[in-house]
Amino acid sequence: MNRVYIETYGCQMNEYDSEIVGALLRSSGFALTASPDQADIILINTCSVRENAARRVKARVYELRHARRDNPAVIGLLGCMVTNLKESLLKLPLDFIAGPDSYRHLPDLLQQARNRFRPADYRLSRTETYADIYPLHKSGANAWIAVMRGCDNFCSYCVVPYARGRERSRSIENVVEECRRLVDEGFVQVTLLGQNVNSYHHNGQSFADLLQAVAGVSGIERIRFTSPHPKDFPDELIRMVADYPQICKHIHLPLQAGNDRILHLMRRTYSRAEYLALTEKIRQRVPGIALTTDIIVGFPTETESDFQDTVEVVRQVRFDSAFIFKYSVRPGTAAAKKFADDVSAEDKTDRIVRLNALQREITQEKNRAHIGQIHRVLIEQQGTRKNPLDWQARTDGNKIVILPPAPHRIGEFVDARIVRTGVHTLRGEIA
Ligand code: SAH
Ligand code: SF4
Ligand code: F3S
Repeated sequence: MNRVYIETYGCQMNEYDSEIVGALLRSSGFALTASPDQADIILINTCSVRENAARRVKARVYELRHARRDNPAVIGLLGCMVTNLKESLLKLPLDFIAGPDSYRHLPDLLQQARNRFRPADYRLSRTETYADIYPLHKSGANAWIAVMRGCDNFCSYCVVPYARGRERSRSIENVVEECRRLVDEGFVQVTLLGQNVNSYHHNGQSFADLLQAVAGVSGIERIRFTSPHPKDFPDELIRMVADYPQICKHIHLPLQAGNDRILHLMRRTYSRAEYLALTEKIRQRVPGIALTTDIIVGFPTETESDFQDTVEVVRQVRFDSAFIFKYSVRPGTAAAKKFADDVSAEDKTDRIVRLNALQREITQEKNRAHIGQIHRVLIEQQGTRKNPLDWQARTDGNKIVILPPAPHRIGEFVDARIVRTGVHTLRGEIA
């Protein structure tokens, strides 16, 4: 009666939250299972950031309901779609819904759902950080740690501030304690997470202070963080990245657009020139650092010439890689209220295709420059789509390196010479 299966969509924060949910339920007497067929309870942790994320989940609910028609399971939705769409989700064949700040109530909600109440719990909290819950980490080399939650930026296109609520941070001591425990369990890398991770602040301490404290935990050999906002990138933070060898030389720095008028309508609070100046400063102080980004094409009123400004920034910065999205209207956001979605579907497709082609070229050129170099890589998993015995490792700059079969182990560092490159991965051999 108590086997729980959790399926996770969306960002790394949702992956982490599913680990929190796993831990909470296990301590209440539930057991986790890796298959929906065996489960008594099926939880789907959802994302609402773009329309198609929500569409996929709806289709999945019907699919699971159908698959379990002879042996019904309790099916519940968790996460951002719940705070976003609330009771309207109960039109789907669901037994309950619970938002991202409601997970402590899950044992109760499950009880009510079994009594056919179909509860809906999506109240957001100003304080909930689940700081006292040690998540059920998946095995591997990397562990996620959510150090802050929520977002106060209200970029005009974005649903996250509504789905996740206000910013709140955990104490440095509490994060450091979790890191120590992770080291004891064999993790060598932590990724600090937040919807806007560098706006972390707790009792007058900043994100740079937090990084310094985590870098002080012996046994943590690599530290990553995501996603920072360009507006919160003081020199002190760049200095941390430069000075601490444990802090990976990779920054994901969402650009969103390269045109000032569009950036203003998006409420990003920086200009193209400020963004460019920041990337230049980072590259000057941390030579060789990898930069990646997120971009939205087809924001309302974006003209071809505005789009060309984004193309120009992409050419100039030469990101290592970029996630490029078509603008998707999110009901309730400022952009949805103020602007018509007036860039045609054809134009959005055309722009994303062109920008992806350009970025692909840049990524390939940058990858090729690694041929012959030796990188210290962290072994993350065995098996790739092509060969179950190959190993996947990662460079400090976040590039995936495929290594031939050998007696490695997950969490081990090896020196790899890069011998070939593709778009998504590099091919290496032990140096
Ligand atoms: N907190 C992160 C972003 C989280 S959402 C940050 O500020 O960087 C991840 C990415 O989804 C965003 O960077 C943005 O590029 C994209 N995105 C968010 N809302 C979107 C929308 N309405 N349409 C298309 N893409 C969107
Ligand atoms: Fe969304 Fe902007 Fe917050 Fe990122 S910073 S989560 S894009 S509102
Ligand atoms: Fe999606 Fe929520 Fe993350 S909307 S991107 S799962 S914060």
